[in-house]
Amino acid sequence: MSYAIPSVPSAGLRLHFNENTGGCSPAVLAALQSISATDTAFYPDYAPVTSAAERYFGVTDGWVQLTNGLDEGLHVVAQAAARGRANAAAVIVEPAFEMYAACADAAGLREIHIAPDEEFAFPLQKILDAATPEVRLINLTDPNNPTGLGIPKGAIETLAAARPDTLVLVDEAYAEFSGRTTMGPLQERYRNVLVGRTFAKAHGLAALRAGALVGHPDALAPLRRLLPPFSLNICAVRALEAAFGDRDYLDAYVSQATASRQLIYDFCGARGIRCWPSEANFVLLRLGPDAGAITAALAARGIHIRDKSSAPGCEGCVRITAGVIEHTRVCLAALEDTLASRRR
Ligand SMILES: Cc1ncc(COP(=O)(O)O)c(C=O)c1O
Repeated sequence: MSYAIPSVPSAGLRLHFNENTGGCSPAVLAALQSISATDTAFYPDYAPVTSAAERYFGVTDGWVQLTNGLDEGLHVVAQAAARGRANAAAVIVEPAFEMYAACADAAGLREIHIAPDEEFAFPLQKILDAATPEVRLINLTDPNNPTGLGIPKGAIETLAAARPDTLVLVDEAYAEFSGRTTMGPLQERYRNVLVGRTFAKAHGLAALRAGALVGHPDALAPLRRLLPPFSLNICAVRALEAAFGDRDYLDAYVSQATASRQLIYDFCGARGIRCWPSEANFVLLRLGPDAGAITAALAARGIHIRDKSSAPGCEGCVRITAGVIEHTRVCLAALEDTLASRRR
């Protein structure tokens, strides 16, 4: 399928939230337009869309709980981990997606932050050492945000087996780009492993809010008790059904992101800029002490990237969304200009 390249938005280029910068599938828009008056008046039936999600993920009945964005899923996981336990704690592996700390705080979990190792190597031993009996939740991201790096093979199983009474949350928000998942057989063996997914990224549904928790029904049961009965609205439900039906669109966008990542690597390689090989739809690159000023200069031109300088281990780094190839080209040309003008 050929990908209809969206033009560069006049309001600027949003390359700072890891969104789908090309927008959702046209099938999603058609589904939204076909919502009827009674559709909006009745509470939604989640059974068909949940079955469609189970088919999409390749898991059996009862293994998927849809949520109002993955953020809602992160909140209920933290609440379930904290529930009924004094002094419960959550492990957060830095640099980490900021919501883990926010959810731990909201749930009353003590936060144990694991500092990054050299070059962001996965700190398996440090996590094992930190995971005392009070630790009820270990937050992992695969591939990680903001580094884009994957968790090494076997590490999740090692953690799940070593701490069977601790929830191990594997946030796979970017799994469509990595093509890997922890779902399925490992979760059958280790019921403490939960996988989080979002439809905000590759599927382009960020504004509609749809995510999922995937795990053995026994693992999901305590979380389900914490969720409101009608978390997703009808727009999210119809959009998801349509998105699952348009695999070509998803594949075409993932190809765009893959090619964009390569453009960023090539840009960095030619200029001696350190960047990390990413399995997600963004790349982290080290611009040095001027990272903040460069981010601001690009923003003034309507190109928004994320200054990650204040994240642990990310001093001098920015994160750039790798989506539509044309958008990446525009961003890199502006970055080139900005770097040149700062050298003058
Ligand atoms: C690692 C990670 N998890 C979860 C989310 C949030 O997903 P959602 O928009 O579905 O709440 C994000 C969004 O940036 C993310 O980067």
